Amino acid sequence: MRSAAAPAASAGATHATGAQPPLSFADAANLLLVGTTAAELLHVSRAQPGETALLHGAAGAVGNSVLQHVRHLGVRVVGTASKANFAFVRQFGGTPVEYGTGLLERIRAAAPEGISAALDTVGSDEATAVSLALVPDRRRVITIAAAPRAKDDRYFFVGASNPQKRTVPCPRSLSHPRACRQGVLTVPIAQTFKFEDAPAAFAMLTGQHRPGKIALINEN
Ligand SMILES: NC(=O)c1ccc[n+]([C@@H]2O[C@H](COP(=O)([O-])OP(=O)(O)OC[C@H]3O[C@@H](n4cnc5c(N)ncnc54)[C@H](OP(=O)(O)O)[C@@H]3O)[C@@H](O)[C@H]2O)c1
Repeated sequence: MRSAAAPAASAGATHATGAQPPLSFADAANLLLVGTTAAELLHVSRAQPGETALLHGAAGAVGNSVLQHVRHLGVRVVGTASKANFAFVRQFGGTPVEYGTGLLERIRAAAPEGISAALDTVGSDEATAVSLALVPDRRRVITIAAAPRAKDDRYFFVGASNPQKRTVPCPRSLSHPRACRQGVLTVPIAQTFKFEDAPAAFAMLTGQHRPGKIALINEN
């Protein structure tokens, strides 16, 4: 069976999403991982049209999918990224802000209207502190990467280990496989590797790499 693998998911892509051309196997497996996570982040945050949300990790795979989802929801996103990825964030409609010292002030300047919800795909102390400082309602601070901190500080962790996790109904317009086939949702892929080249893929994953997912393709 042909399949694709990602850092936290491995699936027979056809079975996972009903993948059909022009969806590649790498697209389909990564859509399952990042698209569903992005949809759940947004659903739990209750982001509404006209609001501004803060997104930590806007150039990452999940962050990029969040940006694509909000395009159809009318939510403005101010997203943290390294300077090298600002153009990538802008390309998908986000307002990039560099993470690091002074982040709180930079976000306040970029979003004088205020931040209604924070979506954290990074999990750093800085991301948590800034989210909690800016979002008035703690139930609208959501992380996928800082489970222990979320429990201690009483904000929301979205992840498989959370017993409150639930299946998120996808907006009809964003039925993932269909939206992907129609080009409404895309899955940026940094690079694909053959299965036997998994060590090289892992080395790329753990180092600095261009935006997008890394996929292992088993041709057998
Ligand atoms: N709980 C769940 O259901 C779930 C599901 C999927 C993924 N995850 C987790 O979510 C996280 C993100 O996944 P991903 O696939 O989106 O990862 P990714 O594609 O590697 O993106 C991570 C992003 O984090 C940014 N970053 C790195 N160091 C940072 C820092 N110190 N401050 C702020 N941003 C920083 C990077 O931005 P620059 O490149 O611009 O520097 C990068 O774009 C991972 O920990 C993953 O395991 C959880």
